[in-house]
Amino acid sequence: MKETLQAILDEASEKIEQSDALDKLNDVRVNFLGKKGQLTSVLKGMKDVAPEDRPKVGQMVNEARAKIETMMEETKTRLEKELREAKMAAEVIDVTLPAKKANVGHRHPNTIALEEVERIFIGMGYEVVEGPEVEYADYNFTKLNIPEDHPARDEQDTFFITDSILLRSQTSPVQARTMEQGKLPIRMIAPGRVFRSDEVDATHSPSFHQIEGLVIDKHITFADLKGTLEEFAKELFGPETKTKFRPHHFPFTEPSAEVDVSCFKCGGKGCRFCKGSGWIEILGCGMVHPHVLEMCGIDPEEYTGFAFGVGLERIALLKYEIDDMRLLYENDYRFLKQF
Ligand code: DAH
Repeated sequence: MKETLQAILDEASEKIEQSDALDKLNDVRVNFLGKKGQLTSVLKGMKDVAPEDRPKVGQMVNEARAKIETMMEETKTRLEKELREAKMAAEVIDVTLPAKKANVGHRHPNTIALEEVERIFIGMGYEVVEGPEVEYADYNFTKLNIPEDHPARDEQDTFFITDSILLRSQTSPVQARTMEQGKLPIRMIAPGRVFRSDEVDATHSPSFHQIEGLVIDKHITFADLKGTLEEFAKELFGPETKTKFRPHHFPFTEPSAEVDVSCFKCGGKGCRFCKGSGWIEILGCGMVHPHVLEMCGIDPEEYTGFAFGVGLERIALLKYEIDDMRLLYENDYRFLKQF
């Protein structure tokens, strides 16, 4: 019995020594101390031992067990230490490396330009309102004095969803929506996305942004329109800026005008920026057509008003001297972070 136990001990100690991983050590435990392990089977053989020898044999088995357990425990501790050390060596943290910078996002040049325009008009007492991008043809055209079959509908060839619903081609329908609400006087701007079936190039995109403006009150005249837009241009492009109103035609305003500002780059002398003319076109405007007022439930004998429409991208391009509109939509961070 003694020899058997010594043989088991020797074998166990050899196996434990050979264990170079924790799972192998566990195999040893199962093999020697487990339910079907070698030591356990010695205990099971006790019935063949003479009763007077049993306590002695029992003690020997227990001692052997304790020895194996101690050896296993020591090896386990050593293996765990080795594992930890290897892991630490593999996961070295270089505390001298600079930390990763958290990049804070940028406002898009369109957003900066819009906030600037909003700041100017809010300062003059205007409200900022919004209208739907998917719009009834009625609002986009009819109520703006562009009846069915009017050629102006083709000029703004857009994306129809049904015969009567489309992606708005301008922010002007927000004029009609605001007037219809019946709250007077009105002083509002309405920024938003518009759509036209244009090919993409340096100055065109099938989707861009406009800012509509509308003022309705008693005794509003063309002088108010001129004063307001002159002030706007000076605020936006600098106090030296001059404005020029050129007669134009829009169906929903009468009279109508296009507004040019003196080139803020060359001061009006003519440069590459203003294509040599000294002037840069920035918006369309006019006195709200009496017929539009009527269609929107306002008495043109009592109330008058003016309206204007500015292209947001145009302002962003001019203000930040960007020469290609496509840059505004590509979301290239190298471009955007300059603003
Ligand atoms: N909606 C016009 C366009 O997209 C711009 C415009 C012109 C708006 C004159 C106005 C206006 O409110 O009075 O071309």
